[in-house]
Amino acid sequence: MDKSRKTVVEYLDKIWADSEKAAPEDLLFSYKGILYPGTLCSPETFQVLDSFEARSDDVILAAYPKNGSNWLDQVLNDLEITAAKYTEEEIKERINITNELSLFPRLEFGDPEKFKRMKELPFRRIIITHLSPQVLPKSIFKSKAKILLLVRNLKDTAVSYFHFYNNIPTLPSFGSWDEYFTAFMHGKLCWGSYFDYLVEWNKHMDDENVMAITYEELKEVHYCQIALEQLFLLTIVSVKMHRHLNQTLGLKKIADFFGFSLSEEEIQTVAEKSSFKAMKEKSSKTHGALGKIFFRKGIIGDWKDHFSEAQNKEMDIKFEECLAGTKLGEKMKYGLYCKA
Ligand code: A3P
Repeated sequence: MDKSRKTVVEYLDKIWADSEKAAPEDLLFSYKGILYPGTLCSPETFQVLDSFEARSDDVILAAYPKNGSNWLDQVLNDLEITAAKYTEEEIKERINITNELSLFPRLEFGDPEKFKRMKELPFRRIIITHLSPQVLPKSIFKSKAKILLLVRNLKDTAVSYFHFYNNIPTLPSFGSWDEYFTAFMHGKLCWGSYFDYLVEWNKHMDDENVMAITYEELKEVHYCQIALEQLFLLTIVSVKMHRHLNQTLGLKKIADFFGFSLSEEEIQTVAEKSSFKAMKEKSSKTHGALGKIFFRKGIIGDWKDHFSEAQNKEMDIKFEECLAGTKLGEKMKYGLYCKA
């Protein structure tokens, strides 16, 4: 097991075991009208969420489930650790402290006491959450901590969440894709409606401490490479240069936003370590039994094999109503990634 992931792997494996034992009615609970998984979150933790004290140098990643938070979790940790130029000793100490404090991989997971323990972390904290901005602890916005908002096209998010729901014991399975699709469209899933989530975050698009990035933006470079390689038959050297430049573009943007200073080579190393293939291969060491479920396909456009014509139309209409013409809606390039 990856030592730095010891607590996370143990935690995820325990959640899996607890979920298998849980009665179906205990798998979900509703808090202020939104569903959450009962083995990961609790109403008690939500009640004290506002006691979380953000620091201005906190690194916050906000992402709706299945938008790629595990991917960026690794990216942000690697960028931060590389930029901080910790010694081996300091890295070990950092891991030990995190393990001792039993902290959980998402802000809203775990016991209500965790916010007190989080105060004890003596280094820059990387905090990941699936929560909408209006639910987040107030101190996050007051402190002006920087927030990276990761979004993914609605249709692939829906498909990814469907497989997640049906493959982990933590969430109740759906009888069919059609049944699930209705739940997705009505926000009857954990963390609520993805449409509402995007509408709420869109209100923060002009905040100076918020930067949005898309899954596709981080991923599409790969498609550009393939297209270039196939269409223009460029020489291997120039393709390699192109790949090098593109793969690192999104990560540079993220590093600049948080003020992480890394060389080209260091960014390239982080990019290579965080490729889907590399992460999937290591997933049992980094995420235990859940690894194979978290790292499923990692592609753009899987929705084309799931959506019926009527479902495409229904989602296209809802996107128009909720997000067309908004800053975040434009950023998501719905026409490019979601139109049949
Ligand atoms: P799929 O189910 O479409 O494969 P999260 O981490 O927020 O749960 O998101 C999971 C989704 O991100 C999954 O999508 C997973 O495969 C994808 N993913 C994880 N790591 C990735 C990576 N390094 N590159 C691209 N996609 C990745």
